[in-house]
Amino acid sequence: MALRNIVKYGDPVLRKKSRVVDNFDKKLSTLIDDMLQTMYNADGVGLAAVQVGVLKRVVVIDIGEGPIELVNPEIIDASEEMQVTPEGCLSLPGQTGTTSRPMTVKVKAQDRNGKWYIHKGTELKAKAFCHEIDHLDGILYIDNLVDDAVEGK
Ligand code: NI
Repeated sequence: MALRNIVKYGDPVLRKKSRVVDNFDKKLSTLIDDMLQTMYNADGVGLAAVQVGVLKRVVVIDIGEGPIELVNPEIIDASEEMQVTPEGCLSLPGQTGTTSRPMTVKVKAQDRNGKWYIHKGTELKAKAFCHEIDHLDGILYIDNLVDDAVEGK
């Protein structure tokens, strides 16, 4: 495993759309392991492959309940109930903004071996799913602020 550099806001790669993964090979496995290590090292709860400069639809999340790897993730259900809370991003260090996200989401995704799983998340986990999956389409949380205000930590 190796630490990778986290791409910072302003790098145009963050606005690109990531590609569907169809090769479940050793390279993918290494990418996922590196992303997990990089996320833990940065004290983050989620990281998308684009944030280490790889345009593949891969996300890792750990909100303190153990690592979750999501390959080709899709939100298949979201609650009408919303949560309006502060949100941050490892690519925009030192700032947070308030977003509105579904309280609960259901996500369909593959693991590193290509096996499909359904993941359910509420509160912070739901927010992490939404935030990281947005990254795969070049969307950043600052695009969805409820009050247009970004605050320094
Ligand atoms: Ni982010």
